[in-house]
Amino acid sequence: MRIVSGIQPTGNLHLGNYLGAIRNWVRMQDDAAASGGQCLYFLADLHAISMPHVPADLGANTREMVAALVACGIDPQRSILFNQAQVPQHAELQWLLNGTARMGWLNRMTQWKDKAGKNREGASVALFTYPVLQAADVLLYQATHVPVGDDQKQHLELARDIAQKFNNDFGTEDAPVFTLPEPFIPPEAARIMSLRDGSAKMSKSDPSDMSRINLTDDADTIMQKVKKAKTDPEPLPSDKAGLEGRPEAKNLVSIYAAMSGATVEAVLAEFGGEGFGKFKPALGELLTHKLAPINARFVELRQDQAALDAILRQGAEKARALAVPTLNAAYAALGL
Ligand code: ADP
Ligand code: NA
Repeated sequence: MRIVSGIQPTGNLHLGNYLGAIRNWVRMQDDAAASGGQCLYFLADLHAISMPHVPADLGANTREMVAALVACGIDPQRSILFNQAQVPQHAELQWLLNGTARMGWLNRMTQWKDKAGKNREGASVALFTYPVLQAADVLLYQATHVPVGDDQKQHLELARDIAQKFNNDFGTEDAPVFTLPEPFIPPEAARIMSLRDGSAKMSKSDPSDMSRINLTDDADTIMQKVKKAKTDPEPLPSDKAGLEGRPEAKNLVSIYAAMSGATVEAVLAEFGGEGFGKFKPALGELLTHKLAPINARFVELRQDQAALDAILRQGAEKARALAVPTLNAAYAALGL
């Protein structure tokens, strides 16, 4: 089992990023290690240039993301952790795959339609061909499994179509150039909502810092944010059905469940009938307790640029060693 997954480098990481994305990576790493598999995790810095971006921020966000990943439990000795830009084979393979991908396939991508909107003429070519780079990202390593959320299923299908057509057109039956990657549905993708509005996703783009718990927040800040979190006046229900129509209560209970490893039912069995005056301090303490070691490691690491650069350099070296044979096979198959 070889799992390949990428994440866009962003700054201001929060609890939503941790519970919705980073923690799944840590779990997959641990599961893969137990079964003799391997995980490759990359920062998608080449993808970031498909949209307007600030060059100085891109480098800083890439390092910040690496610091967060390592602080949260990604072990650069066990997983291969790197950024695309240091492994030029990604861009090279994309060009080779551009010969196989069809315009019609890319035109059907819903993300392209959404992101380009009405301004297709003004969109970057990279925004259009981004899914081909995504195909290269996983085919380059003969990935067997790619974790996908709902929004990425279509791009993985495309990667499989490209691999299949390339193998058919240029490979031989007993020596296909690319492995067809299978989708891997991550254990449970928690969706964390804003602390100020139960109908909005917790996001770095929210102008109110009180709406989210940042990975850089200290214990006092976390306690304050939980205390001020929007709620309703009712006590907590004793079963899940009682959370319907109460998005803020549901969100806080979900966060408690995700952080403690208990089910929502178990959390409600413990706190059902209690008011938020009792639940919020318990949630605040759970969060500070669980996030303190991550916070300490993150704050220390993000100041150590040399250490972060060394992690990325070593990860890129390992990634290149795996990428080169596949890229060479693709060149050879094309007669290049
Ligand atoms: P933001 O919404 O803060 O801009 P990004 O879009 O950069 O976050 O997301 C980075 C990763 O974190 C993605 O995998 C995304 O699915 C996950 N993520 C972001 N916000 C949340 C959230 N509120 N709940 C669960 N997962 C989230
Ligand atoms: Na976003």
